[in-house]
Amino acid sequence: MIDDAFEIPEHALVARPRRLRSHPALRRMVRETTLTRNDLVLPLFAVPGGGVRKEVSSMPGVFQESIEKIAESAREAQDLGIPAVILFGIPSEKDAEGSPSWATNGIVQRALEAVSKAAPELLRIVDLCFCEYTDHGHCGVLTAEGDVDNDPTLVNLARQAVSLAGAGAQVIAPSGMMDGMVAAIRDGLDEHDHEGLPILSYAAKYASSFYGPFRDAADSTPAFGDRRTYQQDPSNAEEALREVRMDIEQGADMVMVKPAMPCLDIVQRVWSMVDVPLGAYQVSGEYAMLKAASARGWLDEERVMEESLVAIKRAGADFILTYYAREMARRLR
Ligand code: PBG
Repeated sequence: MIDDAFEIPEHALVARPRRLRSHPALRRMVRETTLTRNDLVLPLFAVPGGGVRKEVSSMPGVFQESIEKIAESAREAQDLGIPAVILFGIPSEKDAEGSPSWATNGIVQRALEAVSKAAPELLRIVDLCFCEYTDHGHCGVLTAEGDVDNDPTLVNLARQAVSLAGAGAQVIAPSGMMDGMVAAIRDGLDEHDHEGLPILSYAAKYASSFYGPFRDAADSTPAFGDRRTYQQDPSNAEEALREVRMDIEQGADMVMVKPAMPCLDIVQRVWSMVDVPLGAYQVSGEYAMLKAASARGWLDEERVMEESLVAIKRAGADFILTYYAREMARRLR
């Protein structure tokens, strides 16, 4: 009960924002952010073998799939109206350099061919990195001290990019946070007549513990140490803006911020700074949190899925890489 002595100040009720929330149709009319299927990119994980479709234990609804299953998933994504997939590969053999990543018959190279046949309208993005391909699990070749050696890694990144371009990749997305990676890849592509192929740089990528479940999915946990000498310190924001500017100067056609929900401030700041398309990656840990809490009945999954994706878009992302792409696309149909 309001105390008799309490008086509502006159100015408090001059504006009544609730008027615009009073009717569902009016809410629809004044809605500022709309998620569509065009905003979604589905990650897929290719493994060797036949007939494999193995669920990742920490990521319910996400599978490691052999080539023909990848093709089926791609077809399903296309039928759902999802515009693009991003492919990751888990090779049968790994080495110190990650050379299986540029093999002509490499796992992603073969997946690309299968996807292009099964789902010709789907855009084929490839993640360009070495952590899935090196026996030590780091994102490049190592120095004697065990840190990733930047410049020799650039040479290999260009090799991997050219190989994947030759196999039918339509967007190259380097995720290793090496200095100069966009320039090196652009150079390599141009020299091999792929000047028309766009680069989507994981420009601001943090050393985030939210990638935990992905490393089960991609079998890419570092054998020792962590990624803090190449991925960014989550305490820094200005540094992210510098990284983004540098990547655009080097020729990035699109940039990405990763992870998404812990970095919505970065998404917003990058959006206001640049005029190239901006993506954000709702990473494995973000997905796993929502899945786990929903499985216990603590959250309403459909709603938190949609709210989390709308929030990322509202912050400024033009598109979102998300393990929820299929479920969200179904909901939006
Ligand atoms: C590197 C790569 C990673 C992710 C995408 N590309 C892992 C890492 O940097 O350790 C993480 C994606 C996710 O967590 O969903 N190849």
